[in-house]
Amino acid sequence: MALQSTEVSAREKVLQTPKAQWEAVAAQDLDYHLRQFREPYRSTKALGRFLVSRAGKLGGCALDVGCGAGASIFYLSQLLPELQWTGIDLAGDILFQHSRTLFSDQQIHARLVSGDFYHLTDLFGGKKFDLVLSLQILHVLPSYEKALEQLLAVSSKWVVITSLLSEFLVDAKIETTDHTWPAEVSHAYYNVYSFPRLRAFCEAHGAKEVIAQDFDIDIDLPVPTAGGLGTYTRTLETGKRLQFTGPVYMPWKFVLVRMA
Ligand SMILES: C[S@@+](CC[C@H](N)C(=O)[O-])C[C@H]1O[C@@H](n2cnc3c(N)ncnc32)[C@H](O)[C@@H]1O
Repeated sequence: MALQSTEVSAREKVLQTPKAQWEAVAAQDLDYHLRQFREPYRSTKALGRFLVSRAGKLGGCALDVGCGAGASIFYLSQLLPELQWTGIDLAGDILFQHSRTLFSDQQIHARLVSGDFYHLTDLFGGKKFDLVLSLQILHVLPSYEKALEQLLAVSSKWVVITSLLSEFLVDAKIETTDHTWPAEVSHAYYNVYSFPRLRAFCEAHGAKEVIAQDFDIDIDLPVPTAGGLGTYTRTLETGKRLQFTGPVYMPWKFVLVRMA
């Protein structure tokens, strides 16, 4: 009975506006967003290599959708200096006040916008970007179709997605409640979507080519001691590391969509 009422209160609290909800998550998880500026994550570095090897020389305008505080922009703008960056996040009012000075200290120019990625076409007045990134976004949404439609609509050439994806024709809807976090920010999704279906969705919305690559992490990460969510690894006899958060397996993929 006690457990049930905890579940209900966590679910009820997420019924606030999405902006209030994501701002509360950002305030709680500020360290996740900011420590990447000091030490980019392995996934960000591997994504940079994936982009350079698959998309070649990149220039023009780039948009990072759900950019957090902007740490991926911060890293990639040093790797790909020809790109002019915009970042958009619903929790920007909380996050950007902490990162704007990190950008200006390094003389990195990025436009950081507080806004909703479900309205990209309206927000940017029909403008298209040469490169659109969606990093660790789609799997945290209840479903991905509306957001992906917007990402594809504002890209003139490339869309890059990192998410939890498998080769099965199965979408796994995984909801978590992390009881080590305050109830109002304890609810999350770690959905694992079907890559073949996501690819077909992109093709039906104008994509010319969609490729995916597994992200295999190259370091061991320990199990978090607090007993809640947080990435850790387990290694197979083959040497391949699998990533987990709490009880959930995380099959990360990098996806590159070519729109032209
Ligand atoms: C899991 S974090 C990923 C952040 C960053 N892309 C990264 O890779 O570290 C998800 C981000 O999406 C943002 N977000 C969620 N819904 C959004 C929406 N509708 N519009 C814009 N940003 C949103 C959240 O505020 C949060 O910063």
